Amino acid sequence: MSFNRLSHTSYDKLSRDEIVSNMRSRVETVVLNTIDSTNSEAKRRAAATIAPLLIVAEHQSEGRGRMGRNFYSPEGTGIYMSLLYKTKEPLCDAVSITTATSVAVARSIEEASGKEVGIKWVNDLYMDEKKICGILCESVFGESGNSIIIGIGINIETVNFPDEIKDIAASTGKLSCSRSRLVALISDRLLEFIEKPDKSYIEEYRKRSILDGKRVFATSGESVIHGKVLGIDDDGGLILLPDGKTAPTVIRSGEVSVALRP
Ligand code: BTN
Repeated sequence: MSFNRLSHTSYDKLSRDEIVSNMRSRVETVVLNTIDSTNSEAKRRAAATIAPLLIVAEHQSEGRGRMGRNFYSPEGTGIYMSLLYKTKEPLCDAVSITTATSVAVARSIEEASGKEVGIKWVNDLYMDEKKICGILCESVFGESGNSIIIGIGINIETVNFPDEIKDIAASTGKLSCSRSRLVALISDRLLEFIEKPDKSYIEEYRKRSILDGKRVFATSGESVIHGKVLGIDDDGGLILLPDGKTAPTVIRSGEVSVALRP
């Protein structure tokens, strides 16, 4: 259904005032009805922004996922948000940020939905074995400094997923608070984790990981590794015992799929 045909529905609209009044941290906050992608918008605004910047939209026409995929973003049924944060370091630690983000968002969704949220390495969030949230972290290098953009897409009451994802995607279902309050909670928690990087979130990441003991195949660059997941290391890497090997290997980037045969 198109964005315009839905624009008079009675769903609980995102409200900038409600987000800001429920946020403890000071973050420049922009709420849009529609945009191509909140990550792309954050990138366009990066040079002119000093403070942390939060972009939230009711709808994305070109929501982006990892590995060049699309992120289905219909109007009013999800949360599509990007937090832009200026970093002093020349390069950010990508795995740590995605790991911290997964824990911050999982804990917040769990509080708002009352349902258990698991993490599939590296940063997909699952409920009842289906994906309910994806995270896309990107870096921006500019003359005015370097930034990270943390993009989060959550299906709250999305139904009728496109054919290619209908068997693997799901929604959280009704929340005990408004979407605006959940945005504020996630944003506060993310900033807390980024600004106090003591890595204590790793323990929670391990507890939420849904891949332990599973047979998987991992694609990292050109290589594909088949093996069994042993756990998560202290930096958020996936520890894998490749088939036919006696020593484990650690994967720091890429994609993992659960193998169908045991
Ligand atoms: C994935 O599952 O591959 C990551 C999906 C990330 C989607 C979010 S929605 C808000 C932000 N804007 C985007 O275009 N993508 C991220």
